[in-house]
Amino acid sequence: MKRSKIEHLPVMVKEVVEYLNCHQDGIYIDGTLGSGGHSLEILKCSSPNGRLIGIDWDEDAIAVAKNRLNHFQDRVTIIYDNFKNLGNIVRELKVHEVDGILLDLGVSSIQLENEDRGFSFRLEGPIDMRMDKSSRLKAFDLVNSFSIPELEQILWNYGEERFGKRIARSIADYRKHKPISTTVELADIVSAAIPSRFRSKRIHPATKAFQAVRIAVNDEFRNLETAIQVGIDLLRKGGRFCVISFHSLEDRIVKQSFRLLERGCICPSGMPECNCQKESEVKVLTKKPVLPSEDEIRENPRSRSAKLRVAERV
Ligand SMILES: C[S@@+](CC[C@H](N)C(=O)[O-])C[C@H]1O[C@@H](n2cnc3c(N)ncnc32)[C@H](O)[C@@H]1O
Repeated sequence: MKRSKIEHLPVMVKEVVEYLNCHQDGIYIDGTLGSGGHSLEILKCSSPNGRLIGIDWDEDAIAVAKNRLNHFQDRVTIIYDNFKNLGNIVRELKVHEVDGILLDLGVSSIQLENEDRGFSFRLEGPIDMRMDKSSRLKAFDLVNSFSIPELEQILWNYGEERFGKRIARSIADYRKHKPISTTVELADIVSAAIPSRFRSKRIHPATKAFQAVRIAVNDEFRNLETAIQVGIDLLRKGGRFCVISFHSLEDRIVKQSFRLLERGCICPSGMPECNCQKESEVKVLTKKPVLPSEDEIRENPRSRSAKLRVAERV
């Protein structure tokens, strides 16, 4: 497919807009602006006065979204930054409280389908995987210089890859001869390290390893944890925090962070000597995650693993 034709279809847009309770005087933050699909709907639903602050750390995404949302003029502010900095971003804009925050995690189809960005094991390109092209660490550096135990830890912690040890050893053996420089080279090393009887026909054997390396390169889990902590404090009473995640480890972080904020206490539940005086900061509105409809999955297969969780500031 020609790159200019690649589109990113936003996931669970109707559900997001409903949960955000968009209204015409509201201020909303889209922390993962991408190509602006969710932002566009938020702006429409909060018309004529609602305001949107859109954040992304990918310059290419910023350019696409600016072009798409241009006609909303001063109702939109687009910021090139990491969403973990949303406290400072909002302060600099002299905004004190917001009505809703959205994080739609992971990479966009535009990033994934661009071989130069090095996210995909299907498309040959340099192993890069940085969402923010100005950041220092590339996937190339990680696979070519991290130690075997470090690689193994990344593969397990961020990909739950049970063959992490074998993959890490294969990577180390290969790079003794030459650096691993392309996505397909890495995918082949990973695939060969997984015993054939454990290779699924449906899912590419390098899926988990690529996910793990991408999460490590972009420090995705830490960014998410920080954004939830900081973001909850920015919400006005009744304001809502929506997070769409695409794999179980990410979803677990969202679920646990919301639950701890709801309990208002970080002691393990049932601990008799717990003296926490902190009050609950949020009410979790989705005891179970909201999933895309079958129609949506048919129209946009990428949506099939999406999970939406929502917490409301109390
Ligand atoms: C799944 S896409 C979002 C798509 C968007 N909702 C839309 O409708 O087009 C995720 C976007 O979040 C951005 N992103 C991921 N982590 C980020 C972070 N820590 N800070 C800022 N942007 C981030 C990525 O660069 C990507 O453009």
